[in-house]
Amino acid sequence: MELARLLLVIALVLVLHGTETLGGDAPLVPDYYKETCPPVEDIVRRNVEIAVLKDPRMAASLLRMHFHDCFVLGCDASVLLDSQGSMVSEKQAGPNLNSIRGFEVIDEIKFILEKACPDTVSCADILAIVARDAVVLRGGPGWNVLLGRRDSLEASFSGANQFIPAPNSSLQTLIAKFQQQGLDVGDLGLLTGSHTMGKARCLSFRQRIYDASTIHHDHYKRYTTFRRILSSICPESGHDNEFAPLDLMTPARFDNRYYINILQGEGLLISDNVLVTQDPEGEIIEQVWAFASNQELFFDSFANSMVKMGNINVLTGNEGEIRRNCRFVNS
Ligand code: HEM
Ligand SMILES: *[C@@H]1O[C@H](CO)[C@@H](O)[C@H](O)[C@H]1NC(C)=O
Repeated sequence: MELARLLLVIALVLVLHGTETLGGDAPLVPDYYKETCPPVEDIVRRNVEIAVLKDPRMAASLLRMHFHDCFVLGCDASVLLDSQGSMVSEKQAGPNLNSIRGFEVIDEIKFILEKACPDTVSCADILAIVARDAVVLRGGPGWNVLLGRRDSLEASFSGANQFIPAPNSSLQTLIAKFQQQGLDVGDLGLLTGSHTMGKARCLSFRQRIYDASTIHHDHYKRYTTFRRILSSICPESGHDNEFAPLDLMTPARFDNRYYINILQGEGLLISDNVLVTQDPEGEIIEQVWAFASNQELFFDSFANSMVKMGNINVLTGNEGEIRRNCRFVNS
């Protein structure tokens, strides 16, 4: 009797273990390509360096791409797929259309990696490494990127519209959208610190400068100047694709200036501003003050949150595939 039970337990353990290694529960690891593609991180870094030398803003664009990938079906490179057959690309969705950029950089890296280590490195892992390198290149923190993601067989146009938060979201909506991804309020305050670099279109911040309800009374004094600068770039109508830096003070650096800006009421997007104007628990405000006064703390915590974001719904084991061309599923 006891022996039978023991054998049953052993059998169950073996079955569960078997499905784990075959299925999708294998955790990501830092040295995933140690045997199969040792130069992967060097190749990626060198190419991100070149891309950012040519176009400094590319660092921001590449960081954002990883975020837009992870929030839609998980970090599975679904964002990279072009439309094909009945599948509509996520690139066509509202948050991405005429906005997300850097696909040629990923194509170039994938092309080189396919020569160095054919059929080995996933596009989803490339996005994760690239995001880290982009942050480092602009003066931000580094971290060990966990690897072993596989690429999706599909894209989700509707998911991209549904899951990526809009720039005029309320704080409540932002918190909910992050919670949907298994990220908490702390991660929201941290990852939005990415708006320390890069640019937004007039279309994304117009409501922020013309809808008076977005202004907090504490901020009126500085707001006049802030608004004058921005309204010269972005009139009440038209000029939709003119840019302003998300961090007006140190636009090219990954630093903690973003937090000082939002405390002064100079967050460019409504979604930046609400972190300090709509926070009922005071939880985020406290964090914002801490990061504004301690860049080390921001950097360390940001790195942790990036690793957490990079783990969202990853495909592993025999799920998905290793795409040969990041824009198309293998045929
Ligand atoms: C909290 C919710 C967020 C909202 C509502 C939001 C919204 C936006 C918007 C509207 C833009 C400008 C797009 C345009 O006008 O073309 C932008 C740019 C950017 N976002 Fe966010 N974002 C959020 C969180 C994040 C996160 C979590 C990251 C990274 C981990 C990120 C990284 C960036 C970067 C780097 C840019 C500049 C891109 C460039 O210059 O090409 N954002 N974001
Ligand atoms: C947010 O922006 C969209 C598109 O411009 C608009 O339709 C919507 O009414 C805005 N939402 C809020 C809460 O202001």
